[in-house]
Amino acid sequence: MVRSATSPATRGEPAHKPKRSLDEVRVHWLEAFRRVRSETERRASRLSPEDQIVQSMADASPAKWHRAHVTWFFEQFLLVPYCSGYRIFDERFPFLFNSYYVAAGPRHARPQRGLITRPNGEDVAAYRAHVDAAVERLIAQVPAKDAERIFAIIEIGLHHEQQHQELLITDILHAFAQNPTDPVYDSEWQGPRATQGPRGYVEVPHGIHAIGHDSDGFCFDNETPSHDALVPHVKVARHLVTNAEWIEFIAGGGYTTASLWLSDGWAAVQTEGWQAPGYWRQKDDGWNAMTLAGLKPVDPGSPVQHVSYYEADAFARFAGKHLPSEAEWEVAARANVIVDAFGIAWQWTRSAYVPYPGYRAAEGALGEYNGKFMINQMVLRGSSLATPEGHERVSYRNFFYPSARWQFTGLRLAEFV
Ligand SMILES: [Fe+2]
Repeated sequence: MVRSATSPATRGEPAHKPKRSLDEVRVHWLEAFRRVRSETERRASRLSPEDQIVQSMADASPAKWHRAHVTWFFEQFLLVPYCSGYRIFDERFPFLFNSYYVAAGPRHARPQRGLITRPNGEDVAAYRAHVDAAVERLIAQVPAKDAERIFAIIEIGLHHEQQHQELLITDILHAFAQNPTDPVYDSEWQGPRATQGPRGYVEVPHGIHAIGHDSDGFCFDNETPSHDALVPHVKVARHLVTNAEWIEFIAGGGYTTASLWLSDGWAAVQTEGWQAPGYWRQKDDGWNAMTLAGLKPVDPGSPVQHVSYYEADAFARFAGKHLPSEAEWEVAARANVIVDAFGIAWQWTRSAYVPYPGYRAAEGALGEYNGKFMINQMVLRGSSLATPEGHERVSYRNFFYPSARWQFTGLRLAEFV
C-alpha cells in the first residue's frame, strides 16, 4: 500500500471523458464500482471477526460498521430513490448504519457502534452483496435520461467509500494500539518514505491566486467555489517535519513549556498526558511507535505522524515558524515547489475549516455531507499513506478537530519573509 510520495498538482482527472457512448460510460462506472468496493473488502480481509467489532473510542468506528455504512449510503441515496422495485435488505439496518444524516432518519448512537455484535460479519457481507448486485443492475439498465444523475450519485458514493477505507485503517490502528500484544495489521506495511534532497524553504508565488476546485473532475462541495485568495510573501518548507525534529522538540521541553501552546492545546496536554506523538512509547532502546506493522522503532528520518493541530502549532512556535494557510499550501502544491505533498501524511494548516466565499451546501440529505461541519475544525491538506489510490486532489480539504491525532497527520512549516 506504499505508493509514490509525490503527485502532480493535477490529481483528480475528469472521470467523464467526452464523447463516450452510454455503454462505455456504464462500463466505466461498473469497473469503478467493483474496484472501490473490493478495496474495502481487501482492507478488511486482514481483520478477524473479533477485530471487526471493536470500537476503541467514540471517534473511531468498527471495521464491520464501516463496511455496512458505506453500503447503506448506496442503498439510502441511490437504490431507494432511483431503483424501482428495490427491496431494502433489512429494515433495521438504516437505523444502525446511518452515520449523521438527520434528514435520512434516526440513527444509533455513535459511541455505541462497538456494542453491535449482531448483525454479524456474515450478515454484513450478505448486505454488501445484495446492494452490489442491485447497483450493478442499475448501472446496466439506467435509461439515458437518468444516467447523469445516477452516475453522479455513484461517484460520490465511491469517494465516500474511499474516505471510509482510510478511516478503517486509522481506526483499527487505534484499536490495536490499546492491545498489550501489539497486533500486526500488515507485516509488510512500511513507514512513510520521505523524498530525499536539499531541505529548506521555498518561496510561494505571492499575489492573488485562484483557490479551490477548477477542473471537470469530481470534487466534494467544500472545495467550491473556486475563488481568489491573497498569498503574502511567504516561504514553505520543501519537506515535512521529521521524527528527528520532533525528538528535538520533546528534548527541548516542547511538551512541558506552556508558553509554546494555545490555551486549549495546553489543556489537552494536561488532560491527555501528551508527552510525544500518538502511539509513541519510550523504551530502553529509545522511541518506538505502534504502527500497522506492529511496534517499531521510530525512524528519525521519516516524517512525523499522529500529531494534533495543537501539537503542530506548538512545534511551529518552538521552531520560530508558522503553519502554512491552506491557500499557501495549495499555491505551493500547484507550483510544484514542495515535495511529499501527497501520500505520506495529511498536513495541518493554520486555516479554520470554514466555507469558501459563496459556498452553498446541496439541497437534501447529501447537503449534510460537509457543510454542517464547518465550525471548530482545522483544515488539513495533501493525503496520507492510507489514502486510497486516486483519492487525492490538490484542492482536497480534509478537516478534523484540533485535538485529533489518530489520523495520519503531520505538518510542514512556513516562514514569512
Ligand atoms: Fe460516511
